[in-house]
Amino acid sequence: MNHEQLLSLPPDVAGLEKAAAILQRGGLVSFPTETVYGLGADARNNAAVAGIYEAKGRPSFNPLIVHVPDVSAAESYCVFNAAAQHLAQGFWPGALTLVLPLRADAGISKLVTAGLDTLAVRVPDHPVAAGLLRAFGGPVAAPSANPSGRVSPTAAAHVVAGLGGRIDAVVDGGDCAVGVESTIVSCIGEPALLRAGGIPVEALEACLGAPLKTLHDPSTPIAPGQLASHYAPQGKVRLNASGAGKGEVLLGFGPVEADLNLSVAGDLTEAAARLFACLHELDAMGAEQIAVSPIPDHGLGRAINDRLKRAAAPR
Ligand code: TXA
Ligand code: MG
Repeated sequence: MNHEQLLSLPPDVAGLEKAAAILQRGGLVSFPTETVYGLGADARNNAAVAGIYEAKGRPSFNPLIVHVPDVSAAESYCVFNAAAQHLAQGFWPGALTLVLPLRADAGISKLVTAGLDTLAVRVPDHPVAAGLLRAFGGPVAAPSANPSGRVSPTAAAHVVAGLGGRIDAVVDGGDCAVGVESTIVSCIGEPALLRAGGIPVEALEACLGAPLKTLHDPSTPIAPGQLASHYAPQGKVRLNASGAGKGEVLLGFGPVEADLNLSVAGDLTEAAARLFACLHELDAMGAEQIAVSPIPDHGLGRAINDRLKRAAAPR
């Protein structure tokens, strides 16, 4: 496909029909979800999915999340155990991705699962994403719409800046409300946390009535969010800073004197929603050394700290 011009589509019926038609002919469309902008392709079309990896420059061992409009669509591609049913009922549509056994006859491209016999699936809670999934009528594979290893996009302008010239279209649905990627839970056997994200672990544990075990072995990254350096801005990042040192720009949290502040009120929901936009802004400012205020490690703070730790990791 000719990617020279990135088409910006409005989030109305006509825009969604155009976007669906591009997906149908194997093209790449970025669309808003409540978490971050996704880079979508027909999950059944090998060439289209290969295009995602190419546009992002993504290592091909990283499998993709499939987006569907509802639980029954998800059930046609994978097998739900009792815990998975419980979580889907409790949090879909929403910022939760479930990793489940893939059905043999699902028809999903092997490039989506990177050859695994499991599938990551979610039902996004965003009217534009839902409208696009309905208009397209099939499974949409979509990683975050950023070049691999860079900061995820929470606005259409971030997508244009990162992937312009490499994809066909972006549906502009404004800013993403949650601002960090979905929480990923494996329901292959006992439920296990693979990535902290937009649904707090505490809420999942309350739903399951039991603590969630964490699968985390950084030497075997099964989620790219588990690669040491990820979500990285251009500048060097120093965490838990009480203030800006010489030559540093301070990304604050709470009532501190800072160049940029995630949430002056110390609100974790606001901070999550602003996190990636602030990192993009620090890139735009040309910040070379970034100090970040401490963030409480509960609720959405856990996802924020996870992303910040990766942003600060040696590259
Ligand atoms: O909020 C989100 O999840 C966003 C929006 C667009 O939905 N998507 C997103 O996708 O963050 P991505 O590709 O950046 O992250 C998907 C994660 C990866 O870390 C990948 O390794 C993991 O899901 N994943 C996908 N399939 C998997 C599988 N079968 N088993 C384990 N992890 C899997
Ligand atoms: Mg990503």
